[in-house]
Amino acid sequence: MDLDCEPIVALHQVSFTWPGSRQFALNIDSFTLCRGERVLLLGHSGSGKSTLLSLLCGVITPQQGTVTLAGTNPASLSVAQRDRFRAENVGVIFQQFNLLPYGSVADNVLLPLAFAPKRRQRAEQGGNSMAEAQRLCAALQLPDQILSARTSELSVGQQQRVAVARALIGQPAVIIADEPTSALDHDSQQAFMNLLLHQVADSNASLLMVSHDPSLADYFDRVVRIEDLQTATPQVEALC
Ligand SMILES: Nc1ncnc2c1ncn2[C@@H]1O[C@H](COP(=O)(O)OP(=O)(O)O)[C@@H](O)[C@H]1O
Ligand SMILES: [Mg+2]
Repeated sequence: MDLDCEPIVALHQVSFTWPGSRQFALNIDSFTLCRGERVLLLGHSGSGKSTLLSLLCGVITPQQGTVTLAGTNPASLSVAQRDRFRAENVGVIFQQFNLLPYGSVADNVLLPLAFAPKRRQRAEQGGNSMAEAQRLCAALQLPDQILSARTSELSVGQQQRVAVARALIGQPAVIIADEPTSALDHDSQQAFMNLLLHQVADSNASLLMVSHDPSLADYFDRVVRIEDLQTATPQVEALC
């Protein structure tokens, strides 16, 4: 690990299996995401990338080992505390964007602030949170009137940028993106990556992005292959 690294996310001797599943196990001796770092996590389909993201942000808890997110082990918190802690510290861009279809763009972008008072405070610093949502949408090159539009009326590219605005609002320390470019052609992918990285740098966040596409490597400080993180353990060997 880089000696100057201030870890924002760290995994230590983590083992995880899905309940009832003997086919798949994640065993990671060590992984660190530094504050301000941009890391691309590569791996083929089914290799456990999304599972790893869920572990990092405390959606699931490992059977062994520890996860540290912004100095706290999410497993040490109650479920309600954990949800709030995650909302404060992590902005997530889901693979399918997971926008609320019945809400406006503003409802979607402002949603994390309802669960994260510190993010709300930061979002309100320049005036009010709606002004911050407007600023983010403009920075992501979305049309002026978009905040009042229904998300169901948006193109895929617009939905994706709304999902980015929702992840960034209120400056969470970590942005996690699960294959956000998988539905894009090459040119749209480049435009999206440039916008995402610019905004991530602007908000001083760390970025962990998951993909199966190695051609994205140049956008990142570091590339990690999930296969290289995986260590053989007695659990895995027992299946062989
Ligand atoms: N909610 C779940 N319950 C049980 N098994 C799951 C669940 N989510 C994923 N898996 C299994 O875990 C393995 C890794 O899946 P996943 O983390 O989604 O991989 P990736 O994101 O790299 O495609 C797969 O074998 C998948 O079937
Ligand atoms: Mg996945």
